[in-house]
Amino acid sequence: MALKLEILDYFYKLLRKESGLVLDASKQYLIETRLEPIVMHEGFTSIEALGRKLMHNDDTLLRQKVVDAMTTNETSFFRDQKPFDILKSEILPEILKAKEDEKRIRIWCAASSTGQEPYSIGILLNEMARALRGWDIEIIATDISEPVLKKARIGMYSLYEVQRGLPPHYLDKYFEKSNGMWCIHDAVRKLVSFRKINLLSDFGALGTMDIIFCRNILIYFDKETKERVLDRMRNLLSPSGYVLLGASETLLGMESKFVGVGSTGRHFYKKINN
Ligand SMILES: C[S@@+](CC[C@H](N)C(=O)[O-])C[C@H]1O[C@@H](n2cnc3c(N)ncnc32)[C@H](O)[C@@H]1O
Repeated sequence: MALKLEILDYFYKLLRKESGLVLDASKQYLIETRLEPIVMHEGFTSIEALGRKLMHNDDTLLRQKVVDAMTTNETSFFRDQKPFDILKSEILPEILKAKEDEKRIRIWCAASSTGQEPYSIGILLNEMARALRGWDIEIIATDISEPVLKKARIGMYSLYEVQRGLPPHYLDKYFEKSNGMWCIHDAVRKLVSFRKINLLSDFGALGTMDIIFCRNILIYFDKETKERVLDRMRNLLSPSGYVLLGASETLLGMESKFVGVGSTGRHFYKKINN
């Protein structure tokens, strides 16, 4: 049975307010497919009944489950590869030079999903261990969704997951096989700390960052939300800092605040100090 417009509208507004996710009528199927497991698990008779419960009772836990279910958690190790090549050959060497006295690098993965992105950075930094000897390195990985953070903290991946993007020699070097799963080594795990952070909320307490990975999340936001998030990220960037966007994301509307750098000019952005 088709969902009533009133219920759909309620879910669209809820998701926009809670996570910034913008959906329209063409994405109705997403509401249906992603909320059906909650309906089954929580014993509702339909998605409409779930919607009505949320409309009339402020059930924080249930609302969070709906938000979690609607997030797209697609990710992979060394996703898109090219940004990681540029990070290693161009961005990190420049930051190492700029921060030679301080010897401290802080990297933030702002929507880290199940951990493949921050662990890829950890592996890359581990490969540069000699150049980074004596440096204090921190990778802070955050996401709105507790279930994905839980998986990320455990750091265990299926064969399918490790086969997506991870070079075979890194699988041998940085993972231990256990009960049919692949577990990340402590040498990489200890570089990464995971926290729950909603990008719509105030994240200023995270402190100054040298690199912010903000990949494949802005595409879900409207223009105003995207600008607000990027503006607040800009405030956290160190003078020599960079923000990295996803392959299909652009700075549309923010060109006066950031400039594309690196050999491609469209992966890493530096803030313009105005
Ligand atoms: C498509 S994944 C991207 C993962 C990784 N950055 C990558 O590019 O492979 C998007 C992630 O953003 C998270 N997310 C959605 N809305 C968010 C919000 N308002 N604040 C923080 N994270 C959010 C989702 O839970 C999901 O894990």
